[in-house]
Amino acid sequence: MTHLIEFKNVCKYYHMGENVVKAVDDVSMTIDKGEFVAIIGHSGSGKSTCMNIIGCLDVPTSGDYLLNGENVGKLSKNKLAEIRNKTLGFIFQQYNLLPKLSVIENVEVPLIYAGYSKKKRREMAMKGLEEVDIAEKYKNMPNQLSGGQQQRVSIARALSAEPDIILADEPTGALDWQTGKDVLKLLQELNAKGHTIVLITHDIEIAASANRIIRLMDGKIIEDRLITDETERAEVIGSKIFEEKEAEKEARLEESAAVDLQEDASDLDKKVEKDNKEDV
Ligand SMILES: Nc1ncnc2c1ncn2[C@@H]1O[C@H](COP(=O)(O)OP(=O)(O)O)[C@@H](O)[C@H]1O
Ligand SMILES: [Mg+2]
Repeated sequence: MTHLIEFKNVCKYYHMGENVVKAVDDVSMTIDKGEFVAIIGHSGSGKSTCMNIIGCLDVPTSGDYLLNGENVGKLSKNKLAEIRNKTLGFIFQQYNLLPKLSVIENVEVPLIYAGYSKKKRREMAMKGLEEVDIAEKYKNMPNQLSGGQQQRVSIARALSAEPDIILADEPTGALDWQTGKDVLKLLQELNAKGHTIVLITHDIEIAASANRIIRLMDGKIIEDRLITDETERAEVIGSKIFEEKEAEKEARLEESAAVDLQEDASDLDKKVEKDNKEDV
């Protein structure tokens, strides 16, 4: 069976003088059509590097990346760009809308690259805007919209050329909590309609919107779990609350240890002072 995304021993190494940074270190995994996968990990764990490879913005140092069964690491830059336009829709933290274009013109941009006629572009862009429920703003300029609305437009743009995969890099990073939740709900709805989504985030609560979580550490996959029902989703979010409580506890312990140390130090001061006096 051909997977939509397949990593076979994918490595991405950076040579920094004497050192080698293993940003992605021998990763093998598959993602199939219709999945909603979150890639999670701390800063520096290799998320962006993975996303760049999945998104055909970069190629592996070694190993193979197969997209729809095609080994994209072996393609020319032009061919890579062509596959990117045809196969992938991107959503970024900062929306990246073009300020001088109206909402609908922004959504049409990928369709221009894909070579659709003007009439067809309008039609497809409008459909995209309807899908994310912001069609009434089609004539507005981006700066006339709220952050959440701009992110909706950028999602419509990602969808407009009907890509096989939507790649979202911290899509809620610039939004307030409630608006962020709405965007995640929208991604869940799009997934329920059949869109394949890969979401990159450092936050487990955001990752819990997905149906599968791949956790990276030091460029390696250290966990790959499915979320099959709402109980498991709640469990995953609960683990964050648990982790936060543990971190708080640890911080409190460290604080009280620091106070103890200070007290010890001042006891020592007094003792030294006393000894000095006694010496006199
Ligand atoms: N262009 C680059 N040159 C050198 N090192 C890089 C480059 N890009 C990423 N790295 C290193 O690779 C590791 C993974 O980075 P990255 O994929 O950006 O992680 P994340 O997105 O999870 O924060 C980090 O140690 C980072 O410093
Ligand atoms: Mg990153």
